[in-house]
Amino acid sequence: MDQDTEKRVAAEAAALLVEDGMHVGLGTGSTVAFLLPAIAARGLNITCVATSVRTEDAARELGMKVANAAEVNHLDLAIDGADQIAPDWWIVKGGGAAHTREKIVASMADRFVVIADSSKTVDGLHAPIPLELLQYGLANTLRLLDDVTLRGVPDSPDGNVIADYQGDASDPVNLAAWLGSVPGVVEHGLFPPSMTSEILIGRGDAVERLTRAI
Ligand code: A5P
Repeated sequence: MDQDTEKRVAAEAAALLVEDGMHVGLGTGSTVAFLLPAIAARGLNITCVATSVRTEDAARELGMKVANAAEVNHLDLAIDGADQIAPDWWIVKGGGAAHTREKIVASMADRFVVIADSSKTVDGLHAPIPLELLQYGLANTLRLLDDVTLRGVPDSPDGNVIADYQGDASDPVNLAAWLGSVPGVVEHGLFPPSMTSEILIGRGDAVERLTRAI
């Protein structure tokens, strides 16, 4: 079974979690590309917040109502893809450079649901860990981070530089704390287990559903 089938079945299962009247956060990436039409096809009256310009454009194109994220402080549900999913639910995001907005939207939501194909499950997290860095003081931020590469993609829509931490990521608790403490790091792509409510993984044409034990 190919990866696109697994992305599609996970996305379609997540689309069924959306209910009429909800405020819904929409992630970014190729898995979310399957989610948007699946939600739109349900014809519900919902208001969305998008994590990237491309998701916002795609959602509007499908006739979905998209609110200004600056004016929203609560979502019922947010759904997004992932780059790596570890057994202890630490997740890496930001392969599409949208992790800062994605983390903000996840934090707005009562329920954050991750959708992915089975290739995203890993035994332990590894580099690259996406970073968004402030332009101001960039040379110094790079010096402090040491083992980091600039990705060479356009700046984020918020004007920041996209880079990747290339060092050891086997201890995400300490790595997240350290990355978050370096001046100039706007956000990193490590999402803690507490952030995610459910993980839907496409396996062949079936969906494996994982729910976080509270
Ligand atoms: C965007 O910055 C990312 O966090 C994506 O959510 C993540 O890279 C998953 O993308 P795909 O669904 O394209 O694999």
